Amino acid sequence: MRQRKVKNEEERLAEHHQYLIEDPKARKGKWQEVFENGNGIYAEFGCGKGKFIMSLAEQNPNRNYIAIEGRGSIILRALEKATREELKNIVFVKEYIKDVNEYFDCAELTGIYLNFSDPWPKDRHAKRRLTHSRYLDGYREILKKSGCIEFKTDNVDLFLFAINEFECSGLKILESTEDLHSTELEAKQVTTEYEDKFHGEGKKINYCKVQV
Ligand SMILES: C[S@@+](CC[C@H](N)C(=O)[O-])C[C@H]1O[C@@H](n2cnc3c(N)ncnc32)[C@H](O)[C@@H]1O
Repeated sequence: MRQRKVKNEEERLAEHHQYLIEDPKARKGKWQEVFENGNGIYAEFGCGKGKFIMSLAEQNPNRNYIAIEGRGSIILRALEKATREELKNIVFVKEYIKDVNEYFDCAELTGIYLNFSDPWPKDRHAKRRLTHSRYLDGYREILKKSGCIEFKTDNVDLFLFAINEFECSGLKILESTEDLHSTELEAKQVTTEYEDKFHGEGKKINYCKVQV
């Protein structure tokens, strides 16, 4: 995602302290204390400008959401929107996640979303893909029993890689399609920024939902 450098990024991020979790690793095992309502917690890794997860938060007031994005200039856009819309059931984490177990304890999450994750096309970078088995082992631990991972991408190679990793990791594939928008699956109802762009260009959107 191309984004121009934002002036005074740190100060502007700090203006949204009510939404931005300052020390997310210290919240491990204590995420329920952030929301104080006992509702299930769903996280998106690589949320970009946050359209998808903020739409979910608006539509599902009885669920809690954690939007995670490594780039400050991008998450700032999401934070500005959340502040304008006064969303109550979402918080943001500005981190590039390498090891999910550093941030979440066993069974802390009910669901995980991975949307248009960076493909890292070179074989030597495969371990950086958010659907690599290295990450899947972590997701399995931090998800509750029967928790789900939903994955969308326009990239066929990445999709095939992910399906193979899901299967090899013993995750149960509940839904899978190479053309989400030609189906009646619920997942096409809430779209991401990248999804709107690629679907608008006539590209097919690959989607799958797996259960731990
Ligand atoms: C291609 S964009 C997709 C954004 C959004 N999910 C969408 O579908 O419109 C991928 C985003 O994931 C972020 N990202 C990649 N790896 C990440 C990681 N390990 N932790 C947090 N964010 C990450 C990137 O900075 C980028 O903004």
